[in-house]
Amino acid sequence: MPDPQLVLAARVQAALSAAFGPSYADADPVIRPSQFADLQANVALPLAKKLGRKPRDVAEEIVANLDTAGVVSDVQVSGPGFINLTLSDAWIAAEAQRALEDERLAVPAADKPQKVVVEYSSPNVAKEMHVGHLRTTIVGDAIARILAFLGHEVVRDNHVGDWGTPFGMLIEHLLDLGEDAAARDDSSVSDLTAFYQAAREKFDGDERFADRSRKRVVALQAGDAETLRLWNVLVEVSKRYFNAVYTRLGVTLTDDDIKGESFYNDLLAPTVQELEDKGIAVISDGALCAFPPGFTGREGEPLPVIIRKSDGGYNYSTTDLATIRYRVDTEHVDRMIYVVGAPQSLHFQMVFAVARMAGWLNEEVRAEHAQIGNVLGTDGKILRTRAGGTVKLSELLDEAAERAGAEFDKIQHDEPFDDATRAAIVQAVGMGAVKYADLSVARDSEYVFDFDRMISFNGKTGPYLQYAAARIRSIFRRGGLSPEDATGPITLGHPAERALALELLGFGAALKQAGDTAEPHRLASYVYAVADDYTTFYENCPVLKAPDETTKASRLALCAATLRTLETGLHLLGVPTPERM
Ligand code: ARG
Repeated sequence: MPDPQLVLAARVQAALSAAFGPSYADADPVIRPSQFADLQANVALPLAKKLGRKPRDVAEEIVANLDTAGVVSDVQVSGPGFINLTLSDAWIAAEAQRALEDERLAVPAADKPQKVVVEYSSPNVAKEMHVGHLRTTIVGDAIARILAFLGHEVVRDNHVGDWGTPFGMLIEHLLDLGEDAAARDDSSVSDLTAFYQAAREKFDGDERFADRSRKRVVALQAGDAETLRLWNVLVEVSKRYFNAVYTRLGVTLTDDDIKGESFYNDLLAPTVQELEDKGIAVISDGALCAFPPGFTGREGEPLPVIIRKSDGGYNYSTTDLATIRYRVDTEHVDRMIYVVGAPQSLHFQMVFAVARMAGWLNEEVRAEHAQIGNVLGTDGKILRTRAGGTVKLSELLDEAAERAGAEFDKIQHDEPFDDATRAAIVQAVGMGAVKYADLSVARDSEYVFDFDRMISFNGKTGPYLQYAAARIRSIFRRGGLSPEDATGPITLGHPAERALALELLGFGAALKQAGDTAEPHRLASYVYAVADDYTTFYENCPVLKAPDETTKASRLALCAATLRTLETGLHLLGVPTPERM
């Protein structure tokens, strides 16, 4: 348990219990970062109120009972009663050494591993993915990777929109173009935006086509075999496209993770039945509705979740309720994380509320909407092309790689690269730039898609972090060593060595926080902090030219531990790390 915060919390709790009695053994010691030491315990202030004593006296009494052995080198009471705690160099060095020797960098696995569904990406069949999907895909993938590393059983779930009324017109349009157009990968079909728009135009302008389309929806819903076969042709075209995007981005989703809306089709009727049997779903204005408590409209009228429309059709919400029921009853999950855009927030709040009424969700089984903020252009408006159209994802990624190439040529390289190697590195830099930019911002805040900012080798960017890792590798190459051979022992002399080693001990805490809150930006910030501390270390502490062999061995070990922390952290964010740059 190398996390300094936890170690100190345990020591202060023991002191509280020794000083004020066992009932204080699990009081929050209020450990916070400190300006004057490594950390500070602020518990004396709230405690003093409770005990009716002076905070400073309470602080002194805690300190008198504090076991500092092996961990704390200095304790000071300051201000009204803050307890400033300085960790001992020997403890930091020993814990950094332990991390270095451990294949998980001493990151503890979760005490209670859970089965977690991470639902993300979830694009729509026969429609192009947009930047919103790009963001849910990138953030969701990082959440899935982080939770798996922490020892949870992660079920990746791509809830693609592959069902509903538009499929009538899409199938009829496919028939008009001829199925072989899909087989040939003809652009009339594979350009999904054009395909969808053409179908839409015919539907709006041609009454006979619209009629055929409506009949086709009925046939699809009735499970007509030929219609399902045609529907599947469209699904396959879209899957090819999704997979091309995922491969390019290095996203871990595969076809096996797809459980689209259609998957729940047969479960809709029994789900609705259960809601009716439990008295949760009632007829209102001809539609079957649930009214979760606490949701009201402008006039204070109760807001419904429509479960079955008056024409007998089911809704987006019905599918989501069937999905929750399936995950609880069949998949037995403990936690469901929906990585979906913020505009769907009310939808999820209401669906979750109905699921709680039905008893599917409760204290043991949690569902949470990991909200994703909108992606804006540099003009502060929803990202659009110059012509005002929706931005095509593939073109956006092409541009990222192209710009990454231009920036890449400006930095100093280890050696000249042949074209193929350069192209592979540049691709990794471009994708890493886009991904890290997405991940470094709190996921629920809006973010401005700005190539100039994200593809820079300076600042809080993917390329800066990739370059930092590659530069550590190049030190080892220059020294004729491999990072695995750097075994220390780690000793701490210079303050920059100490700061770096201490930072490395925070990896587990950063991961745990990112996993608990489903907020990868916490890991993104941590990785950046490591690179930052490493830069200071590198500027102050010569490694290959260290003054003596002991110092050199220790510094090489710090380099190796930093390298693995950076590479593991970036890997868990889904940011690739080229070995040479
Ligand atoms: N396909 C939807 C969209 O593109 C997202 C699905 C979100 N997930 C869900 N369970 N409703 O907006």
